[in-house]
Amino acid sequence: MDRVPELISAESIAARVRELAAEIVTARASDPANGFVVLVLLKGAFVFAADLVRALDERGAAPPIDFISVSSYGSASESSGSVTLEAHPRVDLAGKDVLLVDDILDTGRSLEAVTRWLRDQGARRVRACVLLDKPSRRVAEIAADFTGFEVPDRFVVGYGLDYDERYRHLPYVGVLDTP
Ligand code: IMP
Ligand code: MG
Repeated sequence: MDRVPELISAESIAARVRELAAEIVTARASDPANGFVVLVLLKGAFVFAADLVRALDERGAAPPIDFISVSSYGSASESSGSVTLEAHPRVDLAGKDVLLVDDILDTGRSLEAVTRWLRDQGARRVRACVLLDKPSRRVAEIAADFTGFEVPDRFVVGYGLDYDERYRHLPYVGVLDTP
């Protein structure tokens, strides 16, 4: 298999993840001291979240972690209009502050749907942290509270992101020219 061309190096990601953890802890300093829950959007965010929670630990934050899964994809690279929740978190979200962790904010449909669902569950405050943002593709009116990197309108893989379940294992973010 040919090497996927690199867009963001593993070193740049590691440095940015540490900065994001610092931003998150700083933002939470003004919140009520009721703690927060990290909710990881599977599958794409699993690598990012694993690094982020350890960077949060370095900053003294020790949130509970749970997982949520949505399906929104008609094909491997284009999201459909409807987003379905497939796996629900087990933690009780009523009154909780939630940090939603996702791999990439593309059209924004997934994040919008999940945020609405979390509010319906009674979450007090929902903040989103995404590794990547492709602002040129936005359909839903939603922004992340914490963003690792803005990327151009290319199909990116690696560091958890896949194309047809491939490339998630890459330690860097690369570009696929023909998704
Ligand atoms: P949205 O609902 O369109 O914002 O889609 C977000 C989801 O689509 C992400 O969590 C990814 O799983 C997937 N996605 C969007 N763009 C890409 C990409 O360039 N590479 C890999 N997955 C992507
Ligand atoms: Mg995803």
